Amino acid sequence: MSSRFPKAFSNPLTYVSAALAGVAFLFILFLMIWEALEPEASPYMGVLTFIALPSVMLGFLALAIVGVVRERNRIKAGLSVEQRFPRIDLNDPAKRRAALTVLIVASVLAIFSAFGSYKAYEYTESDEFCGQMCHTVMQPEFTAYQQSPHARVGCVKCHIGPGAGWFVRSKLSGAYQVYAVAANVYPRPIATPIANLRPARETCEQCHWPDQFYHENLQEKTYYLSDEPNTETSFAMLVKIGGGTGEGGVQSGIHYHMYIANEVSYVHADTQRQIIPWVKAVDRSGKERIYRSTEIPSSDEEIRGLTERKMDCIDCHNRPSHQYHHPADVVNLAMASGRIDKTLPSMKSLAVETLEGKYATEAEAHEKIEQAIRAFYATNHADVALAKRASIGGAIASVQKVYSNNYFPEMNTSWHAFPNNIGHLYFPGCFRCHDGKHVSDDGKVISKDCNVCHSIISKTPAPKGKSGFVYESTEFQHPVDIGDSWKDMNCTECHAKAK
Ligand code: HEC
Ligand code: HEC
Ligand code: HEC
Ligand code: HEC
Ligand code: HEC
Ligand code: HEC
Repeated sequence: MSSRFPKAFSNPLTYVSAALAGVAFLFILFLMIWEALEPEASPYMGVLTFIALPSVMLGFLALAIVGVVRERNRIKAGLSVEQRFPRIDLNDPAKRRAALTVLIVASVLAIFSAFGSYKAYEYTESDEFCGQMCHTVMQPEFTAYQQSPHARVGCVKCHIGPGAGWFVRSKLSGAYQVYAVAANVYPRPIATPIANLRPARETCEQCHWPDQFYHENLQEKTYYLSDEPNTETSFAMLVKIGGGTGEGGVQSGIHYHMYIANEVSYVHADTQRQIIPWVKAVDRSGKERIYRSTEIPSSDEEIRGLTERKMDCIDCHNRPSHQYHHPADVVNLAMASGRIDKTLPSMKSLAVETLEGKYATEAEAHEKIEQAIRAFYATNHADVALAKRASIGGAIASVQKVYSNNYFPEMNTSWHAFPNNIGHLYFPGCFRCHDGKHVSDDGKVISKDCNVCHSIISKTPAPKGKSGFVYESTEFQHPVDIGDSWKDMNCTECHAKAK
């Protein structure tokens, strides 16, 4: 060795550090091969392979260089007969071999670390890194995300989007988040709205093209009441998606609010943007109209003190990917699809009630849900408990699954903390403004007409001899008789609580 390399290389620090760097390198190589062969590898392995070990390796290489410099200084300081710079005489076969070795090793390392840092970059952008690294913290978002229509859309597509500016911003705030997790000072639940979420125009609109919203969307709904027979009601709705632009003729419909042709802005009195005392609408001809809530009277002075926000996708689609469902809503779905047996007496109310219990952990919830449901049938319906053992077991498993997908006690996360702004039944949503109580100076009211946003249609089997169903537009009929209260009150006044 010492004959090939300049004397300064031959010192203990350099030898040891270089050897350790070599070992780290071999580890990285080994883990990369492992990762390639094992697709289910844990997310922590990526951190080890692409961040931790390369840092260790670079650290040792730096130490090796320190060793060389120190040795050279020592030689220069007296013991030295060497020149200031090593003379590389490529005619000397030994020196030539040494130079070649150094060149090859350096290029391998350079290629490798370029590749490594690319992988590190790629890794910090991956869903597993965002969603699973800090397991407890991101568990609610990651779980809900996997159930959502966007399960195949990467976290970074919505949270960072294209371009270098937002990449750097996200890595800076990411560094703070890593600290917050390490120091255990992160908020539970994570506060929303996210203060500096990238504008929807630069994320959602990379895939969705608002100019192209014009159809009506058929939604079928089935509900079960909280009575003993779980009384079933069902109807369908045509949701009027349109409204984006005037390209295909003047449009009306839900996407009316977007800034393509019309612009709506509002001020909010709370951080979650649920209380809206003042709304401004500017139509395509530039005419401006101000609506004020008669329920939340506020002076011009107070309005000026609040933040004004221009409406974009997130003001309605604030849960496109992380939906924590209201228990009545998910249980209806589970019963309609047969995952929970709807013939089990009082199953709807029992499921909703057990989901809403106070539990400290997921494991405790699972256990108590099972106990409560079994105890209910054992005490009140001993015959059912015996005859329908299997379907009670199935119902318990389904309720537990619903719990795991929608309640995260360690993070205080559930529908209680995260309103969904689409709709108006369980959360204020559209009725934050369309409550019939936002009035302009010239007397116009932001509409609460049940047919502005959707038409309710009944669905009955087609007459004998024909297949399919007959759909007919009808008036909404509230599933239980509450007189006209559903017309005068907001739905949330009764429905926001879990029944
Ligand atoms: C379709 C777009 C989209 C995708 C994909 C997406 N998110 Fe989100 N995320 C959002 C929006 C919108 C919000 C809510 C913003 C608000 O209310 O201010 C949000 C909120 C959050 C929050 C704040 C807490 C909460 O529950 O609202 C976290 C944390 C989060 N996302 C993490 C993730 C992670 C991790 C992934 C990938 C596993 C991911 N997101 C994928 C759009 C997305
Ligand atoms: C990378 C592409 C991509 C991005 C970015 C994206 N989406 Fe989507 N989105 C999709 C795809 C694909 C679907 C269709 C999924 C399906 O039907 O299975 C979809 C579906 C939807 C739906 C219909 C959901 C349903 O229940 O059928 C809504 C609403 C939506 N996206 C809103 C948003 C919003 C709001 C954002 C921004 C926060 C966003 N999307 C960002 C690709 C994207
Ligand atoms: C921040 C307040 C606000 C919220 C929240 C809001 N809207 Fe609106 N909406 C308005 C205003 C203002 C108008 C225009 C009223 C006018 O001047 O005619 C409007 C008009 C509409 C129209 C009529 C468009 C037309 O063709 O005339 C529809 C449909 C609509 N909104 C649907 C919805 C739906 C659905 C939601 C919930 C997902 C919602 N809005 C939430 C403020 C709001
Ligand atoms: C005023 C509230 C509101 C705003 C603002 C809004 N949407 Fe929607 N959007 C809705 C409602 C309500 C629906 C129908 C219910 C549903 O499918 O979830 C819908 C449906 C959709 C769908 C599904 C369409 C389909 O074919 O079923 C997509 C995609 C979508 N919106 C994307 C966007 C994007 C992107 C933006 C921003 C440019 C946006 N929306 C702004 C309320 C809004
Ligand atoms: C400003 C628009 C708007 C108005 C006005 C409106 N709705 Fe809705 N409604 C919606 C939207 C948006 C949804 C959610 C559609 C979806 O789930 O995709 C919805 C959902 C519903 C549902 C299904 C609830 C659920 O989550 O299962 C019912 C029932 C309903 N509306 C009844 C009414 C009645 C009755 C009125 C009149 C008092 C009314 N709506 C007025 C926008 C509106
Ligand atoms: C005065 C209180 C009250 C008001 C206001 C009200 N409801 Fe209800 N609603 C009830 C009660 C009580 C039930 C029965 C709940 C049960 O049995 O679980 C119910 C049941 C329902 C159900 C079926 C049960 C389910 O699974 O959630 C729907 C759908 C519904 N209401 C829609 C609406 C809509 C839409 C509005 C607003 C336009 C509204 N309600 C306003 C009291 C109310």
